[in-house]
Amino acid sequence: MCGIFGYINYLVEKDRKYILDTLVNGLSRLEYRGYDSAGLAVDGDKKNEVFAFKEVGKVAKLKQLIEESKPDLTKVFDNHAGIAHTRWATHGPPSRLNCHPHRSDPNWEFAVVHNGIITNYKELKALLEAKGHRFETETDTEAIAKLTKYIFDQHPDIDFTTLVKSVIKELQGAFGLLVKSVHFPGEVVAARKGSPLVIGVRTQRKMKVDFVDVEFAEEGQALPAERASQNAAIKKGKSLLKVPDLSTDKSLLHRSQSRAFLSDDGVPQPTEFFLSSDPSAIIEHTKKVLYLEDDDIAHIHDGQLNIHRLSRLEGASNVRAIQTLEIELQEIMKGRFEHFMQKEIFEQPESVVNAMRGRLNVKDKTITLGGLKSYIGTIRRCRRLIFIACGTSFHSCMAVRGAFEELTDIPISVELASDFLDRQAPVFRDDTCVFVSQSGETADSLMALRYCLERGALTVGIVNVVGSSISLMTHCGVHINAGPEIGVASTKAYTSQFVCMIMFALSLSEDRASKTQRRLDIMEGLGKVSGQITEILKLDKSIKEMCLQFKDQKSMLLLGRGAQHATALEGALKIKEISYLHCEAVMSGELKHGVLALVDENLPIVMILTRDDIFAKSLNAYQQVIARKGRPIVICNTGDKEFPGEKTDKIEVPHTVDVLQGLLNVLPLQLMAYWLAVAEGLNVDFPRNLAKSVTVE
Ligand code: F6R
Repeated sequence: MCGIFGYINYLVEKDRKYILDTLVNGLSRLEYRGYDSAGLAVDGDKKNEVFAFKEVGKVAKLKQLIEESKPDLTKVFDNHAGIAHTRWATHGPPSRLNCHPHRSDPNWEFAVVHNGIITNYKELKALLEAKGHRFETETDTEAIAKLTKYIFDQHPDIDFTTLVKSVIKELQGAFGLLVKSVHFPGEVVAARKGSPLVIGVRTQRKMKVDFVDVEFAEEGQALPAERASQNAAIKKGKSLLKVPDLSTDKSLLHRSQSRAFLSDDGVPQPTEFFLSSDPSAIIEHTKKVLYLEDDDIAHIHDGQLNIHRLSRLEGASNVRAIQTLEIELQEIMKGRFEHFMQKEIFEQPESVVNAMRGRLNVKDKTITLGGLKSYIGTIRRCRRLIFIACGTSFHSCMAVRGAFEELTDIPISVELASDFLDRQAPVFRDDTCVFVSQSGETADSLMALRYCLERGALTVGIVNVVGSSISLMTHCGVHINAGPEIGVASTKAYTSQFVCMIMFALSLSEDRASKTQRRLDIMEGLGKVSGQITEILKLDKSIKEMCLQFKDQKSMLLLGRGAQHATALEGALKIKEISYLHCEAVMSGELKHGVLALVDENLPIVMILTRDDIFAKSLNAYQQVIARKGRPIVICNTGDKEFPGEKTDKIEVPHTVDVLQGLLNVLPLQLMAYWLAVAEGLNVDFPRNLAKSVTVE
């Protein structure tokens, strides 16, 4: 949901072409996060000049605009800071004007790119307008740029970090932002609160440090009372936007010595920095990265990186480790596939194995989840297990609910994060709350996590992105190890979440003798699942052909019962989001209670009818549909005689243990969604109005 990218070179000579290409390429990697417009800002030809390029549409259009503008590509910079942004519109429709970067004034004294939402921007805007600032866009971000200039004008000697600190003290909401200024050439200040930011570092000599100290304000204060009254005043529109008093506001003070990325003798060395909303845009430049945490403010200048905070967090680390990325470039490339979604569907035989690697030992019949190890006992004794997630991740929780109930006998509830918060649902200290998220950054889930932490519950993260907010903020958890998921429609994350949650349930039930055989059956089933997925993916061509009959249809039903209702929900979401065909998932048992009225010989219907304990009941719905002249496509187990080929269109999937069947059944639906969208000529990786990683509430 919006991608931001920055590139800073220090004592490394780069021409403008290299700088622009690096920024544009970074945006292309982040495009899945938002693609309704894109823009960037770099230094101009003269001192204090900024070149900004902004274009509506995808990054390719921005690239074209830059080419047409014909800037002097040969101009060389040995210290330069460029910032860029690809947008998913929240405030103001996609237009060149609303495109980032946003500026403080026509001379671009300050340029800002921002991911997130500033909730008090209207108040800030009104106050700044009253002080003579003229706003030119409908965005919330513009208020950040204008406020920066406003404070700078009162304090022309202020340093860049203190300036941005003063600005973010006034901001409410969520942000990942980069600020560039003609007053601080070659420098960038980055700040995060609720929106992810990662910094990649490339040095020519071997890096001597593996962490960066975090600098707290001199007196380590949070000034909570002062902040609270300030915020309350801003909320009421009462802030007078006091210019910060640098001598008394201790939260703005910081030591300015830098330690990071200096050689032993203290002489700055050639360094490049890459700032990004996620590591996929950094990996081709460097594998050395550092993740910013909420409330961190990073200042990059003279080849150095300083990290500051307004206040020290109780128990929080005061260093940020430099980590080595484990993803490879080819993982974020499409390779032989047409779309990322297609590639990710076909990665599933491998991604489910990666979820189990080192954790499931079928031979020894053991499960080892290192990230949960010291918490399993506590979780076994919890009052309730509450699964909280959004979208596809919510569906994977629904899909494994029955398995948890059966194996653990712990009361289970599955909650949509937004609804859970809207209801302010009761949460207690003896609850365990499990947050399931591919990105680990979904705003609704993050808010719900904070809510549960405040109430003292034990929190568990089931997350794909390493270093994401949910993985950092939860007490314990499991990384699903699906690798980067770039297609906006989630596929491999669903199956890997499924596998990890089943392993979680198996771990919890390890002490239950009555479940021994059942546990063994499930473990054996897990051991075979990868091969079975490979079998199902061979149906790709026939599913593609089958989808042709749905061309020009307006609506479709997906029916499933028990755990397969979750499969139907997930299939329907996939079909809706990428093919724009209205598709409704119905619990088969509910068909007769109303939805049957829709059924006739024309309505496309897919029924999930694999064998399980409730198969006989599921067949009732099948008979009801047939009796109304419906001709459903049936997803059934291979060779099931109940559905003779001459009478029924069917997709046959291998049989597995009932609690794992949904893992297989979802694959034909992913393929169906994919081919339906392709048949409509739609760009599967960029569904309209959507973006990956929904960092707004
Ligand atoms: C659908 C899809 C979304 C996400 C949802 C939660 O294909 O991708 O519904 O599942 O936005 O995202 P995460 O899992 O990142 O929290």
